[in-house]
Amino acid sequence: MKQADLRAAVLISGTGSNLKALITAVQEEGLALNIVRVVSNRAEAPGIGHARQAGIPVSVISHADFPDRQTHDAAVMAALQPDRVELIVLAGYMRILGEEFTRRYSGRMINLHPALLPLYKGLDTYNRALQAGDKETGASIHIVTAGLDSGPVISQVRIPIMPGDDAQSLAARLGPLEHKLVVATVELFCQRKVHYEQGRVFHQGRPLKEPLLLKHDGTFH
Ligand code: GAR
Repeated sequence: MKQADLRAAVLISGTGSNLKALITAVQEEGLALNIVRVVSNRAEAPGIGHARQAGIPVSVISHADFPDRQTHDAAVMAALQPDRVELIVLAGYMRILGEEFTRRYSGRMINLHPALLPLYKGLDTYNRALQAGDKETGASIHIVTAGLDSGPVISQVRIPIMPGDDAQSLAARLGPLEHKLVVATVELFCQRKVHYEQGRVFHQGRPLKEPLLLKHDGTFH
C-alpha cells in the first residue's frame, strides 16, 4: 500500500523561494508531501503569494502583535494543532522559537541555515565566512532544538568561495542549491528514510556520523 503523503507546515518570513521550490517539487516532480499550512510572521512576506497561488492555507501570525515570544509561539502552535503536521520546515523563518515549541515538535522540525554548521550560527553568515577567509561556504539543514542553529545537522551543500565574492554573489550562487537541498532533504522524510531519536539523526536505520552531502545535481553522495 502506498504511504500517505507526509503532512508538513512551512514557516516563512520573507521571499519564500524555498517554499516555492517545495511546491514545485510536489506539483511537478511528485514529491510525496502535503503542505497543509504556511505560517508567516510577517504580513508583507512575498512568499505568502506562493502559498496562496497553490491553494495552501496561510496563517499570518505577526510577532509584532504579541507581547512576547511565549505568546507568539503559543499562537503559532495553536494554528498548527489541528493540522496534525508530521514535519515543520523552517524555510527562511527569521524568528527564534522558544523551548516549549521546540519540545512539542522535537525531531519533527528542520531548519535551513546558510552556513556550514557548526560554523556561523545566527545572522550575517556570508560576511562572517568571507571575513574569516574561508575557502568554502554552503547551507545546512538541521533538526531544530532549543539552542539556536545547534541541533544535529542532517544535510549540507558546499560551494567554493572565489576571489571577488561578496555576500550577494555567494547568496546568488547558493540560492538554487539551497532549493535542491531543501527538496532532497524533505524527500528523505517523505520516504521515512531519516528520523531523530534521543539526540541523534538516523539515516536508513543507522546513526548519521556526518551530514549527508548534496551533489550539485540535487542528489546525495
Ligand atoms: C535562505 O537563504 C535561508 O538559508 C535563510 O533565509 C533564506 C530564505 O530564503 N535562512 C536563514 O538565514 C535562517 N537563519 P527564502 O525566503 O527565499 O526561502
